Amino acid sequence: DCGAVGEALDMPVYAVGGFVRDLLLRQENLDVDLVVEGNGIAFAEEFARRHPCRVRSHHKFGTAILIFPDGGKIDIASARMEYYLEPGALPTVEHSSIKLDLYRRDFTINTLAIALNGKRHGELLDFFGGQRDLREKVLRVLHNLSFVEDPTRVFRAIRFEQRLGFHLGAHTESLLKSAIQMGFMSRVSGARLFNELTIIFKEANPLPAVFRLAELGLLPCIHSALTLGERKRRLFEAASQAVLWYEFQHPKKVLQRWEVYFLCLISDLDYRAVPTIARRLDVPARFRELLRAQRGQAHRVIRQLARRLGRDQEPRPSELHRMLSGFSDEVLLYILARLSDERARQWVAHYITHLRHTSIHLDGHALKEMGFPPGPLYKKILSLLLAERLDGRIHSLEDEIALVQ
Ligand code: CTP
Repeated sequence: DCGAVGEALDMPVYAVGGFVRDLLLRQENLDVDLVVEGNGIAFAEEFARRHPCRVRSHHKFGTAILIFPDGGKIDIASARMEYYLEPGALPTVEHSSIKLDLYRRDFTINTLAIALNGKRHGELLDFFGGQRDLREKVLRVLHNLSFVEDPTRVFRAIRFEQRLGFHLGAHTESLLKSAIQMGFMSRVSGARLFNELTIIFKEANPLPAVFRLAELGLLPCIHSALTLGERKRRLFEAASQAVLWYEFQHPKKVLQRWEVYFLCLISDLDYRAVPTIARRLDVPARFRELLRAQRGQAHRVIRQLARRLGRDQEPRPSELHRMLSGFSDEVLLYILARLSDERARQWVAHYITHLRHTSIHLDGHALKEMGFPPGPLYKKILSLLLAERLDGRIHSLEDEIALVQ
């Protein structure tokens, strides 16, 4: 119905970018991007008067987001009407502003647009050979300065290349490589770099893109000590297995998969290098805390488990619980991926699927009713009971009461 709103406001409206690309590739894409020739915010507000949705506007950029009750979103941008005066001729306006908007984009495959109203209603606009490049499965920039203007496009190129199974056009590849060689990546702000990296880690299968980052020499742009040798490749593969296994076990849980892969990426960095990389990437506070506290702790547990293996000494369930209960699921999967021995992996997997769900019957209230004075003793009693229960020495409420008394 965007067309009708555009019609009413006399503003040409186009569906653009990734949405059109994926439509032609017959791939699902729920993010709709619109470009309005005129005032995009006015368009969004009119749309919201007619349909149940909220508008979030950014006046500085002339953009708005429509947010629907089911969580769906439509991004709206304004293409300014621009009049080109050729000497002695009338201004040529038709499509010039949508064309200019599309020209500013990263790759030809992202420059396709579908007109949603006006006399071109339903027409596919292809100014820069996007359809040909979709057919040929090739990524091409629109002009030579594309990567220089916006070096994050290097990451985007790798992401699209690997996700869509495309390849870089020869000229585009050489532009990309020279942007890297000429040090343009160092201009990218930490937050944008972190964003691009995590978007790659959130791909359905991020491994090929990660390996390609390394092949193109992009890891040292993030931190000079970052490498991707055979060992780390295997670690990434193990992490991907662990993630798949976990998601199969817990289909309803939302796992921050990118955190697992991020930990893999920096797995061999000295702990002193971690704050440096966190600063360079402007890592959000919550994740910085995870890197600071849980990462070191995880490495200690990995060493402990290795020692147990060395001594052929299986940890008791209560010991596993004590070692592992402080970690987030993401860190547990990282630990799982780091363990090369099948037996140790089984210990951790057993913790994730069973041990950590173990509970006891008694709680603080019950202890109070039994006459124990409230205080730190409660915690001790309860964790002792849990340990006994985990190790199979007690089984029922009666056992718990008997033990406490
Ligand atoms: N874009 C760009 N340069 C960037 C980022 C984005 O030119 N550094 C353009 C692209 O042409 C893209 C559009 O802005 O089509 C919207 O960006 P985004 O939503 O990130 O891209 P999608 O193509 O929708 O990619 P994805 O499928 O990964 O969401």
